[in-house]
Amino acid sequence: MRTAVHNPFQPGSDVVPEIWAGRTEQLSDWRDVLRPRLQAGLFERGRTVLGEPGLGKSSLVRRIAMQAERAGDWVTPQIRLALGTDPLKRIAAEVLKLADRAGLPAARENRISSLLERVQTVAASGVSLGLRDREGVEPHTALTELLVEIGHAAIRQNQVVLIHVDEVQNITDEKLLSQVLIALGDAITREVDVTVPAVGTITRSLPIAVYLTGLPEFDDRSGSRKGATFARRFATTTLEPINDDDLRSALRPLVVTGWETPSEDGSIVAVRLAPDAAETIVDVCRGEPFLFQLAGQRAWYAGSGDVITRPEVLAGWGQAEQEATSHVERILERLPPREREFLSAMAELPPWERSQGQIAAKAGFAKPTDAGTTSQRLDRVRGIIGRGKVYTFRHRAIEAFLTSDWPSLEQ
Ligand SMILES: Nc1ncnc2c1ncn2[C@@H]1O[C@H](COP(=O)(O)OP(=O)(O)OP(=O)(O)O)[C@@H](O)[C@H]1O
Ligand SMILES: [Mg+2]
Repeated sequence: MRTAVHNPFQPGSDVVPEIWAGRTEQLSDWRDVLRPRLQAGLFERGRTVLGEPGLGKSSLVRRIAMQAERAGDWVTPQIRLALGTDPLKRIAAEVLKLADRAGLPAARENRISSLLERVQTVAASGVSLGLRDREGVEPHTALTELLVEIGHAAIRQNQVVLIHVDEVQNITDEKLLSQVLIALGDAITREVDVTVPAVGTITRSLPIAVYLTGLPEFDDRSGSRKGATFARRFATTTLEPINDDDLRSALRPLVVTGWETPSEDGSIVAVRLAPDAAETIVDVCRGEPFLFQLAGQRAWYAGSGDVITRPEVLAGWGQAEQEATSHVERILERLPPREREFLSAMAELPPWERSQGQIAAKAGFAKPTDAGTTSQRLDRVRGIIGRGKVYTFRHRAIEAFLTSDWPSLEQ
C-alpha cells in the first residue's frame, strides 16, 4: 500500500514534487505580473533565480514552465548547461524548436529561411569565439533575430514564450556569457511596431520571458562584469529556505484527506499523516526543500499502515541523517574559506553576541574590512545570514548543523 510507486515525496533534483510548498511570491510574479504584462506588450525584465544548492531553483522555474505549458504558452524545456558545454549551441537548438512551434519554417520569406539556416549552424557546431558567419554578423545576433521573429509570431497568435536556462553559473567563459546575456537581453528589450485594428500602429515589447537559474556565484560574474546593463535587463531573486508555515500547509492535505493509494485488494485507501508526524517533518528539515522531501519519503517507507506516525518519521529520519549531513556539508564545502570561517565563528558565539566585530575577532580576521566583505556576501549574494544589529542565520539547516547535533535527534 505504501509502495514506492505511490510515494508522493520526491527528493532528487530538477523534479516538480507532488507535495509543493511555498514560493508563492515567485509563482504569483509569473501569473500576476510577468505573463500578463508581456501579453499586454509591456516590457518586463527577465528573471534570475539564484540560491544555494537544493533550495529549489530548478523546481520552481520548472513548475512555472509547466503552468505556462498548460496555458498553451510556447515553453522550452529546462536548458541545463553542463560545465564546458557551449551555451549558445544548446540555446540555439531549443530556440529552433520554438521556431517550429511558431510555424516559422513554413514561412516563404527568404529572410526567415536564411535566419533559420544561420541558427541551425550555431546549433550544430556552436560558436568558435570570434568567428563570424557568411553574412558577417556574430552568431549570437542571429539568435536574437530569430527570437524576434518568434516574438512576432507569438504576438500574431496571442502567445507568450518562456525560455528557461538552468545552471547559468557554469558559463565560465566571460565572452560566451556576455554573448548569451546579450542574445537574450536584446530580444526581451526589443520594441516592435504592430498594427492594432481601429487604433493604428503601436510600439510594444515582445512577449518573451527569460528565466535564468543557478548558484549564487553567477551573480559575481553577471553583476560586476555586465554592470548596469544586466541589472536593467534581469531582476535577480535569491531564494531562501521555505518557512515552516508553508511546509505545514503543504502537508495539510496529507493530514486532512490523505494520499490516495491502491490497496492489495484493488480498492483505494487514503494514507494519512498524523498531525504530530507532520510537525516532526517540518521540524527536522529546517526549511530545506530537499530535506523536506527526503524526510517525507523515508517516513512513508518506514511503515506500512494507513497512517504515517511520528515514530515512523523519526525512524525514517534516522536513516536519512547521513544524507542530510552530506547535503549541508556540500553547501559549506563550496564556500570560500573566509566565508566558512566566518560562519563557524558566528555559530560558536551565543546568538546575542553575534555582532560583526565579535564574529570578526572570533574568526581571527586581521582587518575589520575583511569581515565586512565576507558578511556582505553571505548576506546579499548567498542569503545565508542576515545582518541586523546582531547577525542571524537565514539558512536554518546550516545554523542547525553548526550549532547543534542536528541532523541527529535526541529522542
Ligand atoms: N517548493 C518546493 N516544495 C517542496 N519541495 C521542493 C520545492 N522546491 C524544490 N523542492 C524539492 O527540493 C529538491 C531540490 O530542488 P531543485 O533541484 O529544484 O534545487 P536546486 O536549487 O535547483 O538545486 P541545485 O543547486 O543543486 O541545482 C527536489 O527534491 C524537489 O523535489
Ligand atoms: Mg538546480
